[in-house]
Amino acid sequence: MVELAPSILAADFSRLAEQIQAAAEGGAALIHVDVMDGHFVPNLTVGPPVVRSLRKATDLPLDCHLMIEDPDKFIPEFAEAGANWISVHQEACRNLDRTLHLIKQHGCRAGVVINPATPVETLSEVLDIVDYVLVMSVNPGFGAQEFIPNSLNKIRRLAAVRNQRGLNFRIEVDGGIAHDTAANVVRAGAEILVAGNAVFGHGDPKSNARQLLKTAAEAMLLKV
Ligand code: DX5
Ligand code: ZN
Repeated sequence: MVELAPSILAADFSRLAEQIQAAAEGGAALIHVDVMDGHFVPNLTVGPPVVRSLRKATDLPLDCHLMIEDPDKFIPEFAEAGANWISVHQEACRNLDRTLHLIKQHGCRAGVVINPATPVETLSEVLDIVDYVLVMSVNPGFGAQEFIPNSLNKIRRLAAVRNQRGLNFRIEVDGGIAHDTAANVVRAGAEILVAGNAVFGHGDPKSNARQLLKTAAEAMLLKV
């Protein structure tokens, strides 16, 4: 089954509760929270206080994507604020194995993220530890960017390795996911689609979410 994780980055922050409620009614399974520190990526967003407020506004799991340096420093605080899933960038972790265990010790699902220029192969030693792998299909830092087509090859390679090794991490994809790209990423093997602009950028988040899920489900049916 394909799931949708709307990214609040593209939402109206003055009406967050209302916007995530609409996305939930449209079938969202998770709420994706993009955390940026102005160092690892050239942008700033939100931190644990916003996660704490979101926790009160929804029962959906909060999927916190940490685009920050030295994530170990903040993992306990995000977990305490109500994060359910926490992912860290391979490129930001000097001791990735330790960081992934730290996430699990705090009762959260642990994910690892790779940037467009980072090969899937760099994850080979942690694939049996992670609950999910997030493949960035844009360079992180901003919403509404164009999908990078080579991400499809990376998703395919990851799905093939998972199959060969009999592992069961999930594959999430993030960046430039919209009606034109959703079908291809699903056919390549992605199971969780992050979408910011396509859900909150224009129109009604509820029907946008519903449409994206419909496109994804149809692509899943056509998958061999
Ligand atoms: C980019 C973020 C993404 C982004 C996705 O750094 O990780 O989650 O908000 O936005 P869209 O769907 O607009 O590309
Ligand atoms: Zn993200």
